[in-house]
Amino acid sequence: MRYLVIFCLLLVANCKEKKNPLFEKLNTFNPGQEWLDDKGKHINAHGGGILLHGNTYFWYGEHKIEGEIGNTAQVGVHLYTSVDLYNWKDEGIVLHVDETNSNSDISKGCILERPKVIFNEKTKKFVMWFHLEPKNQQYSAALTGVAVSNSPRGPFRFIKSLRPNKGIWPLNVKNFHKKKIPKITEKSYCGGPQCMPFHVDSLNILGRDFEIGQMSRDMTLFKDDDGTAYQLYSSEENSTLHISQLSDDYLSHSGIYKRFFQYRFMEAPTIIKKNGKYFIIASGCTGWAPNAARSASADNIFGPWTELGNPCLGENANTTFNSQGTFILKVKNTEDNYIFMADRWKPSNPIEGKYIWLPLNISDDNSIELEWKEKWDLSIFN
Ligand code: DGJ
Repeated sequence: MRYLVIFCLLLVANCKEKKNPLFEKLNTFNPGQEWLDDKGKHINAHGGGILLHGNTYFWYGEHKIEGEIGNTAQVGVHLYTSVDLYNWKDEGIVLHVDETNSNSDISKGCILERPKVIFNEKTKKFVMWFHLEPKNQQYSAALTGVAVSNSPRGPFRFIKSLRPNKGIWPLNVKNFHKKKIPKITEKSYCGGPQCMPFHVDSLNILGRDFEIGQMSRDMTLFKDDDGTAYQLYSSEENSTLHISQLSDDYLSHSGIYKRFFQYRFMEAPTIIKKNGKYFIIASGCTGWAPNAARSASADNIFGPWTELGNPCLGENANTTFNSQGTFILKVKNTEDNYIFMADRWKPSNPIEGKYIWLPLNISDDNSIELEWKEKWDLSIFN
């Protein structure tokens, strides 16, 4: 008995130590400031997304390292958990880049961006999709990758990388896409409207990529109320957004997809559904430099989508408060309240990139607004 008591006392002492007495509990969001985890380190989960599973939020994001090399994936996808959204526990790396096999699609030094995770009720698996560029190819491959896990805490097992919808036309394909066109030889990573040398009528990147699959760069996932999931990604040299339904197990594309915001060069797509209406916030296309966000709404995920303009108000609205969106989070235990999550990138030293979280205001007339807040907390939703 005596030994049991001593053992329990030691256990409690040990747990207390791990609770990290050095750092105070947070009860506010401080956009753009350093955000310390339970170990006192700035959270390292960039381009991230959040899964609410049970009572716990799981924040998955790109683990960055010091220096410009940190713009490539040297480690993998980092997970943090929280029950209150202010205080985050470091749960470590849940998808590791492959350090031993340089031929692996996810070999160390690849580009692995914007990981998002959803839970499949039928298979009970946690499915992660991300933007993937194999090592030394800059952004030219424009692939998406998928990984799976039995637990939200990982480890995630990389399954495959691909260009979506190979040999399949979107539901809203136009006649000209199917016509034989002069081969577009442009190979280099473009990344913006300024790099498009083609006249819009000959801008048939969809047709160009029909046989090899459509380009897929910045992306997010969306799980609808009926369990159907969709991937939204910047396609066609970033010029056009694709919304692509996933298969029932979420591990592939179903082949049902549509293209939207043609030639609008939208990156960083984020999406939510409120009162049966879908809302997208995306960015323009200017590399790591911030630009003005755009928003849009629709009654059906497959459109028609109506653009609503820049949702940001006030100073620095034209740079999305010096950030670029990554996810819209639905807050638990409140009615239809959402947080817009964005990254303030620092490409010269990516590990120092900061997070901009702001309450998203969608009013009854469906106007969508984001206002800067130096400091705020969840009572704003009361
Ligand atoms: C902007 C994208 O949104 C980021 O995810 C990243 O791909 C950078 N471009 C790279 O320049």
